[in-house]
Amino acid sequence: MSYIDSDRPLALITGGANGIGLATAEKLASKGYDLYLIDKDADNLELAKRKIQLAGAKVEIQALDLSNPNGLDQAISQLVANYSIDALVNNAGVGFARTVSQTTQAEWDLTFAVNITAQFIICKHVVPQMIARGGGAIVNVASAGALVGLKNRVAYCSSKAAVVGLTRCIAADHAMDGIRINAIAPGTVDSTWIGRILADDPDPVARRKLMEARQLDGKMGTPEEVAHGIAFLLSQEARFVNGSVFSMDAGLTAV
Ligand SMILES: NC(=O)c1ccc[n+]([C@@H]2O[C@H](COP(=O)([O-])OP(=O)(O)OC[C@H]3O[C@@H](n4cnc5c(N)ncnc54)[C@H](O)[C@@H]3O)[C@@H](O)[C@H]2O)c1
Repeated sequence: MSYIDSDRPLALITGGANGIGLATAEKLASKGYDLYLIDKDADNLELAKRKIQLAGAKVEIQALDLSNPNGLDQAISQLVANYSIDALVNNAGVGFARTVSQTTQAEWDLTFAVNITAQFIICKHVVPQMIARGGGAIVNVASAGALVGLKNRVAYCSSKAAVVGLTRCIAADHAMDGIRINAIAPGTVDSTWIGRILADDPDPVARRKLMEARQLDGKMGTPEEVAHGIAFLLSQEARFVNGSVFSMDAGLTAV
């Protein structure tokens, strides 16, 4: 039983107010999904809702801080009691530019709460519902930083490596239940995230060039390109893809 009175499949996306999450919501809406978006950014969540509704999809939103595990547990428990989720995109993430000795306990805890514990809690509720309904598809957003050590990103890379472990284990346990779950590992993507990093840098032009140069073709990806990858992983065309780490990084991790 779904509050969204619709025959269209329903996708739950975290971090759907901005960047890759918003682009994914728009892409999935264009492919016939209705959306349930969660984000702590209430203003942009409302804007996202209006934008996606214009594309003809039904959209529900919930302003929620994913870093509070108890609040998240309650919210997702209620959500699955009222909505049937066909596709899940665990996308919200945070990061701090720190080496190991610079990273505070609070930064470590927040990074893990949002980047991995929230994915665990959401899967904990959504996977049993998907099993009861015969299956479903999940994409957990990791990062190229899950596969290689990026400078100054100790908590971030550690948490994203954990996303890969969570993804593989759920695939191992639930492939026979009709669940496909994959991680996507983007390189540097020109989202609001990068905008914030550049805004904080004394030399944003030089910094941007450095970030672009990480990709083999010297260009960042776009949120829309990553959204395309996520939509593929959720689709039936990806039936043979399970437990994978899908790199979309213009070769960042290839060399
Ligand atoms: N941009 C990149 O270069 C890049 C590269 C690899 C992976 N990623 C990953 O892609 C995902 C999306 O990143 P993006 O680039 O679109 O960033 P973004 O900052 O544009 O979007 C992240 C979204 O997550 C939300 N969010 C953050 N903390 C939250 C919390 N505690 N509770 C609820 N919502 C919260 C933000 O409000 C925002 O809407 C993240 O997991 C990020 O680690 C990004």
